[in-house]
Amino acid sequence: MKKLTAIVLTAAMCMGLAAPAMADIKVAFSQIGQESDWRTANTDSINGTIEAHEGWELVYDDAQQKQENQIKALRNFITQGVDYILFTGVVSTGWEEVLAEVNEAEIPLILVDRLPDCIDDIDYVAAFGGDFVEEGRRQVAWAGEYLKSVGRDSEDVNVVIMEGTTGASAQTGRTEGNLAAMEEYPFLKLVGQQTGNFTRAEGQAVMESWLKSIDKIDVLIAQNDDMALGAIDAIKAAGLVPGKDIIIVGCDSVKAAFEAIVAGEMNATIECTPLYGPFVESCIESLEAGEEMSKEVIHPEEGVYDMDGGIDLGTVVSVKAADVIDERVY
Ligand code: AHR
Repeated sequence: MKKLTAIVLTAAMCMGLAAPAMADIKVAFSQIGQESDWRTANTDSINGTIEAHEGWELVYDDAQQKQENQIKALRNFITQGVDYILFTGVVSTGWEEVLAEVNEAEIPLILVDRLPDCIDDIDYVAAFGGDFVEEGRRQVAWAGEYLKSVGRDSEDVNVVIMEGTTGASAQTGRTEGNLAAMEEYPFLKLVGQQTGNFTRAEGQAVMESWLKSIDKIDVLIAQNDDMALGAIDAIKAAGLVPGKDIIIVGCDSVKAAFEAIVAGEMNATIECTPLYGPFVESCIESLEAGEEMSKEVIHPEEGVYDMDGGIDLGTVVSVKAADVIDERVY
């Protein structure tokens, strides 16, 4: 095969044709699946950046939400002898063995998005992802501060928390942040807590069942915007007004959430950027230049967007979604 390629290249050169670019660096990416608008934007950002980079070849695998598919993909990347592996885990546990195999193969491992629990026991070259605990804290703090600002902190306010995929670090982190912040606002009463698996369809189904079984829901904390948007459909179908009868706080800050906020059907969204392409690119370029990256997990700077802006969450002040909706790229 190599001989044939050489003959074709030599013939092309003799004929004065430009030789096709050979990929020098194979960058493999084990993606979780395509459960949300966030995930689609994340895949597009990373894959688009790698594909557009001269001399880089993308080796991509979509695990369709299954850990066993991710494990197979990682072993396949090792067999193919790729140069870099980008990895995010659908859940946070159960990666020790396969990531040790990646380490044994001496393939630089770049951790993105959902980090594995065994992070301290494996070798990786860089790690980049959202601060999930802080995102969860901001969700509840937004609801608490907003309710205070409209004088509703003297009544009992019933809150439901719709969680992401059970066992994903985005779910465990945001739940930790949600529950810790609930302590700061004693007028918030937790009346429901269930997974909606980060999807619109399950967000709608969970909200439907809550509306049948819980007498009064005042606030929905949805650990991503897709679930919030699904819940909005269920709230409307039940004859209630989303954004008014039930205050809705999502997470991710996807364009569809901005549109819902501008339409008055959702109240706030906490940003978790999916745009990892530039980080991945500069990381691989630095490593190729022989530079070492810090092992510290890098969290991007993220905002909070809502109906009117000006809600102070200590670490960030919310911005009015309508003012910045045109800048949204995902
Ligand atoms: O891991 C990031 C989370 O996964 C996003 O918040 C969510 O939308 C996605 O499915």
